[in-house]
Amino acid sequence: MTFEERTLAIVRKALGEMERGFQHLPEHQMVFDAEGAEEVLMEVARRMRDNYPYHHPLYAGQMLKPPHPVAQAAYMLSMWLNPNNHALDGGRASSAMEKEAVGALAAMFGWKEHIGHLTSGGTVANMEALWISGKLAPGKPVLASDQAHYTHSRISDVLGLRFQVVPSDDDMVMDVRALRRAVKERDVGVVVATIGTTGAGTIDPLPEILEMGREFGFRVHADAAYGGYFTLASDLPPRTREVLDRLSEVGSLVIDPHKHGLQPYGCGCVLFRDPSVGRFYRHDSPYTYFTSSELHLGEISLECSRAGASAVALWAMQRALPMVRGGDFARGLDKGREAALGLYHKMREDRRFLTILPPELDILVFGLDGESASRISERSEKLFQEAERAGLYLAKFRSSSRVLERRWKGVEFDRPEVVLLRSCLMKPEHLEWVDGIWERLCRSVDNVLGTSK
Ligand SMILES: Cc1ncc(COP(=O)(O)O)c(C=O)c1O
Repeated sequence: MTFEERTLAIVRKALGEMERGFQHLPEHQMVFDAEGAEEVLMEVARRMRDNYPYHHPLYAGQMLKPPHPVAQAAYMLSMWLNPNNHALDGGRASSAMEKEAVGALAAMFGWKEHIGHLTSGGTVANMEALWISGKLAPGKPVLASDQAHYTHSRISDVLGLRFQVVPSDDDMVMDVRALRRAVKERDVGVVVATIGTTGAGTIDPLPEILEMGREFGFRVHADAAYGGYFTLASDLPPRTREVLDRLSEVGSLVIDPHKHGLQPYGCGCVLFRDPSVGRFYRHDSPYTYFTSSELHLGEISLECSRAGASAVALWAMQRALPMVRGGDFARGLDKGREAALGLYHKMREDRRFLTILPPELDILVFGLDGESASRISERSEKLFQEAERAGLYLAKFRSSSRVLERRWKGVEFDRPEVVLLRSCLMKPEHLEWVDGIWERLCRSVDNVLGTSK
């Protein structure tokens, strides 16, 4: 059995408990063809088999992490009501849970005062943050590094804001000297610091960016969609710890519970340090906000309808696994990181592999040795396929040759980009699977290099 099913019985029990709250209503049954439903669902199940096994530790490719069983069950349970957290009319209980869950996220960064809400994901959350930055500094550009998530430039385009790329340095983080040059040249509205880049999991130099922000008067937004939860982790390198500790100083921050927060998809979060930015969200609606004078979350959110189930699931998970340093949730993050470091050290001791940096969080980027960028790229493509044949699922990453030139002496950089392999070791279970992953990886490498016995 590879799927966790123990929660199904609990959902059934909890459903009865929830239903008791609606017993005053006259009997009512939805009319539908239950037999037909079974047929359709069996077909759905068969179609869904065509997915990669994201839930299994041998899936160690893209940034995908299974939700916690409690979050999954709470989401499922809410489906019998399907709350909408736009207005209290649509989701009174789930809105209260959203405020508590978002408050807990803000508290994780040391913010007592804040304004924020859940979004459908990191893209919309970042869009709201850049939208507010644009309102605070009209006409001034958005700056982000070339390792920032691709959506920042597109979001800026949608918002009608100018976007400027800051080059990254050899450590694949924003080059602070290039940033200084850029902010000296023109007035900048906001600089996006990526706290955990999507490609290699590196962390931008936030302390220097914050200090420059004070000197030149720009706002700092942290895209911590992937890396934010690591503020709870232990044994981080001192520099990483320093950056995460200083997240409390940014103007706005995005963290995605559907990445590292063990949540089903549809759960991002944007937080603003200054609650007064709520004024930019002010709008009127003749058809909502009439059941209560209390704040409706739709009054501080760009999206209208939002899944109340996401808030319920997040709240439930935070109850089951409190977000505290040293707790089980934090330990889960440590385990993924230990797994990534464990594999990195194995690669460092094996001359067939090329590495770039030790994983700062839990993403590992690597390649197979070769005389040229073309040969390394070709081997990455082959290894990607061989690994899948061996039941190990990896991802790919294209790195600019410029970043690698100083590290990989003796390699001829005959093309501007090198294809590498990327592995997001995000599941706590990955730690127990390091040897199993390594064994499959080595077998696949033998097949690529023709060294199998
Ligand atoms: C750093 C970062 N920011 C933003 C996003 C976009 O988030 P979403 O896919 O939830 O829209 C991602 C997605 O991987 C990310 O890694």
